[in-house]
Amino acid sequence: MSNHTQSADLFERAAAIVPSGVSTNTRSRQPHPLYFTSAKGAHAFDADGNRHLDLIMGNGAVMLGHGYAPVQEAVARAIAAGLTCGVEAVAMVDAAEAFMSAVQWPDMVRFTNTGTEAVQHALHIARHATGRTRIAKVEGSYHGWSDEVFVSVWADLAKAGSADAIKPLAQFAGQRCDLVDEVVVLPFNDVERTLAVLDQLGGDLAALLLEPVMIDIGFIPATTDYLKALRRAADKHGFVLIYDELLTGFNLAPGGVADTSGVAPDLALFGKAMANGYPMAAIAGREELMRMTEPGKGPAFVGTFNGHGIAVAAAAAALPILASGEVQNTLAERGRRLAASFARAAADAGVAAHLVTGGSHMHWYFLDGEVTDYRSAAKTDGAAYAAFTGELGARDILFLPNPLSHHAISLAHDDALLDEIDVAFAAGLSAVAKR
Ligand SMILES: Cc1ncc(COP(=O)(O)O)c(C=O)c1O
Repeated sequence: MSNHTQSADLFERAAAIVPSGVSTNTRSRQPHPLYFTSAKGAHAFDADGNRHLDLIMGNGAVMLGHGYAPVQEAVARAIAAGLTCGVEAVAMVDAAEAFMSAVQWPDMVRFTNTGTEAVQHALHIARHATGRTRIAKVEGSYHGWSDEVFVSVWADLAKAGSADAIKPLAQFAGQRCDLVDEVVVLPFNDVERTLAVLDQLGGDLAALLLEPVMIDIGFIPATTDYLKALRRAADKHGFVLIYDELLTGFNLAPGGVADTSGVAPDLALFGKAMANGYPMAAIAGREELMRMTEPGKGPAFVGTFNGHGIAVAAAAAALPILASGEVQNTLAERGRRLAASFARAAADAGVAAHLVTGGSHMHWYFLDGEVTDYRSAAKTDGAAYAAFTGELGARDILFLPNPLSHHAISLAHDDALLDEIDVAFAAGLSAVAKR
């Protein structure tokens, strides 16, 4: 077991002045979080000098690996140049052009700092374009923490109603319940039930927002039939179809699910991998909608740190590397390899579990049967997940404690590290079997 004395001391200092001693609640851990000093490739190094094999990888953002040289060099040049914010950086134009050559379907793109902000812009545009206020989202789909979209993500199924009439549920105290009540929550991948709701309420909707692969709760792809049905419903009822490609864009394929499925939305949000860990997100879409954010035309589009000099430099360096699809194919192949050895180890251990992978993403479910939506994913066995991840933690492998979360590898997770992960997964599965 690694020594965590420095992290324990840091936690004591931090927790006195920073709630839970962390900057985002998902980093909170018992008995205390770890504090890190550096990262390189597939590893992060904590304050006690322990080396951790990272399966979080910036929640999928650090797809090329920590400290990836071409991005680091671009960032170092940007830092040396001294330009931060307040004026438009030359590298913004480079990043926008690189984005547009990687993503095929949209006409225009604009940069923000976070996904939560990009989602807000998309909803403002949709309301302005349609003159309507209500939005629809999918149960289990995560779009950041703002009041009107952090709804029915990790929902309590005892309170969520039947799949025919899903009740919108708030996710946090202090949330505006009037906004939550307005949200129409749809079942994922269920064309019939979804169309029944949209035929009734579609004419009231400004937008329908979804992750076309639900990755925040593991890895659950939408069927092409489902996406096509949503596209047809959007055209019929006149609402704006928005894909949240924060985790699918660049991680699965350069243009995300819109390009791979051939079913394009009207607007989409991107982020995370596009700047290999530097804070940056984007909204992209049809010209007529995107131009609505121009000065004096309607929706706001402002932000001190938008198009930040360092972030756009990172994106301008990362995007051309992500554009050909080669990185995604390499990582998908590594994911398939991990899934196959996980399946063998689960069978040997007699544990009902499977590893789902796609691009750089992966997650493990402990259940029998297929996962097609939030309700089937929620059947995962939390105690089995804890036993499995306990074994990863004992080996200094970084993971997320929520059984409905997601993990990732990067270009730096080479064959030797995949072997190490295979061994840890097998040990985790036998720990589950021994309970
Ligand atoms: C699919 C998706 N949308 C939106 C967000 C919110 O992005 P951010 O955390 O940058 O605000 C996230 C973040 O995890 C996400 O995974």
